[in-house]
Amino acid sequence: HSELRGDEIIVVSNREPYIHDRDQQGVRVRRPASGLVTAIEPVMRACSGTWIAHGSGTADRDMVDLDDRVSVPPDHPMYSLRRIWLTPEEEQGYYYGFANEGLWPLCHVAHVRPVFRESDWEAYRAVNQRFADAVVEEARTEDPVVLVQDYHLALVPALVREKLPQATILTFWHIPWPNPESFGICPWRREILLGLLGSTILGFHTKFHCKNFLETVDRFIEARIEHEHSVVAVAERETFIESYPISIEWPHPTEGEWASPADCRHAVIGRLGFPEHAIIGLGVDRFDYTKGIVERLNAVERMLEKHPNLRGRFVFVQVASPTRSTLDEYRAFQQQVERIASRINARFGSGCYQPVVLLAEHHDHGQLIELYRAADICVVTSLHDGMNLVCKEFVASRDDEQGVLVLSRFAGAAREMHEALIVNPYHVEETADAIYRAARMSSGEQRERMISLRHTVRDFNVFRWAGRMLSDAARWRLRARVEERV
Ligand code: G6P
Repeated sequence: HSELRGDEIIVVSNREPYIHDRDQQGVRVRRPASGLVTAIEPVMRACSGTWIAHGSGTADRDMVDLDDRVSVPPDHPMYSLRRIWLTPEEEQGYYYGFANEGLWPLCHVAHVRPVFRESDWEAYRAVNQRFADAVVEEARTEDPVVLVQDYHLALVPALVREKLPQATILTFWHIPWPNPESFGICPWRREILLGLLGSTILGFHTKFHCKNFLETVDRFIEARIEHEHSVVAVAERETFIESYPISIEWPHPTEGEWASPADCRHAVIGRLGFPEHAIIGLGVDRFDYTKGIVERLNAVERMLEKHPNLRGRFVFVQVASPTRSTLDEYRAFQQQVERIASRINARFGSGCYQPVVLLAEHHDHGQLIELYRAADICVVTSLHDGMNLVCKEFVASRDDEQGVLVLSRFAGAAREMHEALIVNPYHVEETADAIYRAARMSSGEQRERMISLRHTVRDFNVFRWAGRMLSDAARWRLRARVEERV
């Protein structure tokens, strides 16, 4: 993206890359569990600029006295983070309410009914306005490049466009876009579409999501759609719709510091009390009902039922980072998963052998790498997922070219990672058989598949994702300048 050298870059997202909490000891910094942050942070470190996000650390701001702006990363500042402090009411309506009880289930179509409250919508609109105002305030030029992230901020593009008509606004939708029938149940479908169409470029993970979006526009608003160029024009203002599959950093920034897979395995086996000859299956997710954790555990249970020889030997570690847990739907889901894990352990456990270990707490990056390197099998069974970066992190962490990936066909990643064992997570038998096949796969076959997967993640890394979007943006800017002259 050297074409944009010298241009001003502003990222705007709900989630911040570093969460600052203050307690008696002082300020502590945490990293959130978020695919979005995993992907955007390396880009920001590479191009500096400003990142605007909701300040989600210690709730009572007066008590903690945190500044609006900080330089991050804390130990090696490279860009600036501008925080928007939301009141509890704003956070309730905008984030928990409209974004996570409305848009999240609306777009994932994971059999959880979206809830649309008028008051949540009002809060969503008001908070989107606050984010847009912050972009305008931070902008030092008339034509910054603004990168708007995800479903929390669907109205920001049009709101920024109103004040900064020359801005290049790149919006990326990190979750799926459903078909028009599904999207059409949203009472504010028009407003959301028009909000997004304030963008210069609107990106999705897959062609399929782009197609769904174009069909939704066609169904619900007056617009000219040029299918062959993927362009939508509303009152002569054009938006380019394109797919940009997101990814992770490559090479992995901490690669040099990793313990050997054997040492990782040793550490994990010791800590979790597994038998020496354990076959370790691993799931890593936010504790979210779209991730297919119930289906995955059912498949583990079915596999142990069919293959008694693996009892006492196969173990499954499920890391589930707490997320959005004030919402009923999330709490009920967590309880359901806990019940199923206990059921499986009661059925197949004996002595100190427990086949399922549920680690329902946040794990930092180093702890995850250790688990990825210790595992024989990584299982990703999302019922629907924009991309899913856990599978790419697993592959990136296996420089020993061992380990098997079992991957849901309903994650965007399945369109790139063909050498995984691809499953329909709703089909318990098929998933159980894939995990069994993975457990028995020869080291040679593991190597062949892993080498290929690693090439994919290496070649289509996050810099390529951002680079393609930014160079498309550079082309648009050039075109706009040329047209101005005519
Ligand atoms: C997904 C969304 C992100 C979100 C993340 C974590 O990856 O696409 O926008 O930040 O989940 O969820 P949370 O609600 O904790 O931000």
